[in-house]
Amino acid sequence: MIKIAVLVSGNGSNLQALIDAHLSGKIVGVISNKPDAFALQRAQHANIDTAVIEHKQYPNREAFDAAMHQQLLAWDVDLVVLAGFMRILSAEFVQAWEGKMLNIHPSLLPNYKGMHTHQRVLNTGDTLHGCTVHYVTAELDAGQALTQGVLKVDLHDTVDSLAERVHVLEHLIYPQAVEWICNGTLQHIATGQVLYKGQALTRPIQFANFNI
Ligand code: GAR
Repeated sequence: MIKIAVLVSGNGSNLQALIDAHLSGKIVGVISNKPDAFALQRAQHANIDTAVIEHKQYPNREAFDAAMHQQLLAWDVDLVVLAGFMRILSAEFVQAWEGKMLNIHPSLLPNYKGMHTHQRVLNTGDTLHGCTVHYVTAELDAGQALTQGVLKVDLHDTVDSLAERVHVLEHLIYPQAVEWICNGTLQHIATGQVLYKGQALTRPIQFANFNI
């Protein structure tokens, strides 16, 4: 069985979506860099082991990442799932978990890497927006995209309404992508290629839900 660790910094609604999708049996631990993250309570409520590793307690990014790496090894983790984890990871850590670490980002990558994605979508006047599950590589938000949830931007949308609508999509596509990795539907192979149902994945699988 694949053993999953989830890394969080805040509310943890994506962690909750994974738990609600019956993946909690596979989640061996949750790491938070913030001791007051509500995500920790969600994990404890689901009887999942938790570890608080505060970045502020470490002299630099590498030392903080090394502490997380040790915890992941102690849990014998196969897959690391970033769920609202708001720290940039060192190249060494990313390399150690390459092909085994996922992130969800609130935009249709490669559009709008980084922060404030909803505001930037509104500023540009885009008609479509959404979220992307991707592998984590050293370059921020640039690893191979696996799946995307797509919605239509409404004339009345604000940053808050887009954040809320994108969250609903995230809660659908993240458990699905993790499930697909667990059951081999999605595979990261030694060449660095990603296979979907045995075929090379050339573009992300998109879920367009225009009712959200
Ligand atoms: C999610 O919207 C996720 O896409 C975003 O943080 C939020 C966490 O929500 N992640 C990033 O922006 C990473 N660059 P949650 O704590 O309720 O799951």
